[in-house]
Amino acid sequence: MLYTVLGKTGLRISRIALGTWQFGSRQWGYGVSYSRADCVEALRAAVEHGVNLVDTAEIYGSGLSEEIVGEAVKGLRERVVIATKVSPLNLTYDGVIKACGRSLRRLGVKTIDLYQIHHPNPLIPISGTMKAMEKLVEMGWISYIGVSNFSLKRLIKAQEALRREEIVSNQVKYNLLERDVERELLPYAEREGLTILAYSPLAQGLLTGKYTRERQPRDLIRKVNLLFANMERVEPVLAKLRELAGRMGVEPGQIALRWLISRENVSAIVGVKNVGQALSAAASSDIDLSREDYEELDRLSLQARISRNYAKVLLRLLS
Ligand SMILES: NC(=O)c1ccc[n+]([C@@H]2O[C@H](COP(=O)([O-])OP(=O)(O)OC[C@H]3O[C@@H](n4cnc5c(N)ncnc54)[C@H](OP(=O)(O)O)[C@@H]3O)[C@@H](O)[C@H]2O)c1
Repeated sequence: MLYTVLGKTGLRISRIALGTWQFGSRQWGYGVSYSRADCVEALRAAVEHGVNLVDTAEIYGSGLSEEIVGEAVKGLRERVVIATKVSPLNLTYDGVIKACGRSLRRLGVKTIDLYQIHHPNPLIPISGTMKAMEKLVEMGWISYIGVSNFSLKRLIKAQEALRREEIVSNQVKYNLLERDVERELLPYAEREGLTILAYSPLAQGLLTGKYTRERQPRDLIRKVNLLFANMERVEPVLAKLRELAGRMGVEPGQIALRWLISRENVSAIVGVKNVGQALSAAASSDIDLSREDYEELDRLSLQARISRNYAKVLLRLLS
């Protein structure tokens, strides 16, 4: 497993992290195609294979994800860095403190290692939110402060609202087909020593190569994902991933993850539903991707222009 350091904290985190939006979320098929036991086993297997960062949020499964993570880390607490997120609806000073208390109870832990603002809320002043975050550090309820889905401008404003602490990470969408973060946020993070936590690193399963124009996931989450409506545009990237995977005896999705974590300050948060997916994610870190293959993927992915035709999404919703 490759590791990096979370911001400037000195805390070692795995470059493959476990995402748990899927834990307890019916939209993803929880309770139908996989169970609570699958989630608990997946987390424990990932930790056994070197993953030490687990990401959840108070809104995932309306709190059930945090509960399942809490159950799964029993007996493993000191081996796991727990990251959770406060909802954008709870960003007033009192809202943050209360939400954190609820998350601690659901997780069954004394301290949350990384507490992140899930999404900015322009209606609530950031000053009160960040004051509450610093209070939580002072009380020992959280160790470090992170943000998610913050533009560079908002990130700098949030940092300026802090007196003593530093923002250590920004969690943003980042994968071979969605690379907006490379324009501003990634260079800034590299310069300033922030960690980029990349969510949807498999483009919600698309980069595993198991979906095609004919074989599409049926859930609402992916029906509204523009990438799945653009299969013809992403096919050259998928073909390359399949070719490399075939040559190396691994899975296409593992190559996509390995490409993503080639940057020192990026950890990929992979959403999983079972042990198989957790182990596959963890093992991707061990792949030896040559400079040539890395650059070829880079080139092909930059050519995959995704059409922002929302009518297509509407049609998919109706189908
Ligand atoms: N901060 C935010 O706003 C935000 C937003 C989104 C996500 N996140 C976090 O990031 C995590 C990951 O993002 P994500 O769930 O959107 O997307 P993702 O990790 O790109 O894709 C996850 C999906 O890929 C499929 N998959 C995973 N491993 C696989 C394997 N080895 N083989 C085949 N299929 C596999 C699974 O779905 P199927 O098996 O059904 O195909 C899984 O649900 C989330 O769990 C969450 O913790 C954060």
